[in-house]
Amino acid sequence: MEPKADDHRPRWEGLLEQIRRTVGRDGFRDEILLSICRLLRNEIDHYDWAGFYLVDADRKMLRLGPYDGAPTRHLEIPFGQGVCGLAAEKRRALMVPDVSRVANYLSCSPRVQSEFVVPVFVGERMAAELDIDSHTLDAFGAQDKEFLESVAEIVVGLFSEDGPR
Ligand code: SME
Repeated sequence: MEPKADDHRPRWEGLLEQIRRTVGRDGFRDEILLSICRLLRNEIDHYDWAGFYLVDADRKMLRLGPYDGAPTRHLEIPFGQGVCGLAAEKRRALMVPDVSRVANYLSCSPRVQSEFVVPVFVGERMAAELDIDSHTLDAFGAQDKEFLESVAEIVVGLFSEDGPR
């Protein structure tokens, strides 16, 4: 079944509500982010890896934060490298239907076929990226974009100066 052909929105609205509740809980930021990664990966069939990269603007570097899925050796990614680094440089979401077509792709696993990266902005400051990998080719569509951008908006408060540590 093609993931994009279904209307996921009613169920995903419930997941957004769960994510809002998770963000509203007391706790350390990284524990909350990890819960969100687990929820995304467990609940959405075509999300096979879900994680956050944290932006180190001074070094123009992304640093791996909480994630759920296969371990990755890409603990740090310079701006401009791979899909995540490119999204950081361009300061915008990137949807890659076929990762084999990306010249400087940073592979976490040979099973990954498509990827979607969404930045998390605190005002003008890009604080993090939400990165989703899929083992399905061309897995992501407009509904994923709408959904993942909503997730990024919900977690913004965790990255503000007075958010949880
Ligand atoms: N594939 C990413 C690297 C991060 S992993 O997917 C976890 C990239 O090309 O930036």
